[in-house]
Amino acid sequence: MQHYTHITDLKNLHKTVQEAIDLKENPLQFEHLGKGKTICLLFFNNSLRTRLSTQKAAQNLGMHTIVMNFGNEGWQLEYEDGVIMNQGKAEHVKEAAKVISQYCDIVAIRAFATLEDKEKDKREEVLTNFIKYATIPVINMESSVGHPLQALADAITLAEHLPAGMAGKTAHRLKVVLSWAPHPKALPHAVANSFVEMMQLQDAEFVITHPKGYELDKEITKDTTVEYNQEKAFADADFIYTKNWSCFTDYGKVISEDKNWMITSEKMSKTNKAKFMHCLPVRRNVVVEDAVLDSGDSLVIQQANNRTYAAQIILKKIVESN
Ligand code: CP
Repeated sequence: MQHYTHITDLKNLHKTVQEAIDLKENPLQFEHLGKGKTICLLFFNNSLRTRLSTQKAAQNLGMHTIVMNFGNEGWQLEYEDGVIMNQGKAEHVKEAAKVISQYCDIVAIRAFATLEDKEKDKREEVLTNFIKYATIPVINMESSVGHPLQALADAITLAEHLPAGMAGKTAHRLKVVLSWAPHPKALPHAVANSFVEMMQLQDAEFVITHPKGYELDKEITKDTTVEYNQEKAFADADFIYTKNWSCFTDYGKVISEDKNWMITSEKMSKTNKAKFMHCLPVRRNVVVEDAVLDSGDSLVIQQANNRTYAAQIILKKIVESN
C-alpha cells in the first residue's frame, strides 16, 4: 500500500479486519518492523483519539513519532499554484511537504473541511497536495471528505460484535443503520462518508436515516437506502451508528436541530437489541441519551480502542510495501 487516504485503498476490507483482530491478540509481535523509522503526525485540527491511537500504533511497531499541531504552530501554508505570496501565508506546500519528507518515513495528516467552500473541500487540498509533493507515504487522519482510519476501526468493531449466530457466517441478515442526530454546531461529513463507503463493502442491509435536507453527497451514497422515518429505519437493526453532519446541499449549514432525532433508550428498544456506535467525541443528551451511552449496548469505548489496531495494520502494510 502506497498511501491510505480512503477505505477503498484496502485491497480486501474483510481480510484487513481479520488481520487487525489477530494483531490485537499480540500487538507487539511486529515491534521490529518500524525500527529506525519515523512517522510525522500533522494536525491542522484538534484530536484526542486519532492523535493518541496513531502514536500508540506506531509505538507498537517500534516506530518513532513526531507530532506537530500545524494549525497553531506551523506556518500558514499556501496551496494554490502561481500565487504571489504577499499576504498571510508564509510557506508553500511544495516546500513544506518536501522538507517534512526528509525528516520522516510516513506523514499522517488531519485537515478538516472548512464547511465554507464545497468545491474546495471536495478537492481535499491539504491531503492531495501532500500526496502530490511529499516523497513518502501519506495517511489520512480525517480530511474534508473522509475519515478512513475511523471507518476501519468501525469495521473491526462490527466484526467483533456480530449478533450471536452470525459470526463466521455470511452476514446478509445483518442490519446496520447510520442515523443523523442533532448537534448545535455545523459538523463535517467525513465520518459519515467513510462509514457509508465502508458499509458499501459489507454484505449487510444498510440504511441511512436523517431528516429531509440532510442528504449526504450522492456521489458517495450512490444507491444506499435512505429512510426519512427514523423509527422505521431502526426496526430490526443490529447496529445503530450515530453521527451528526451539517447540510451538504446548503453547504455547512445547520438546517435543523430537531431534538426528536436524539438517540434514546426508548428508540433503541425498538431495534433488534442493537449495539450503539459513535466515533466520539459525543455530546451527551444532545446526540444521545446518557442511558444509551452508559448501557452495556454501547460500543463507543471499544470503537476508540480499535483505532489503535486500525492504525497499526495500516502502518504495517505501508512499512511492508515501501
Ligand atoms: N473519532 C475521532 O477521530 O476522534 P478525535 O477527533 O478525538 O481524534
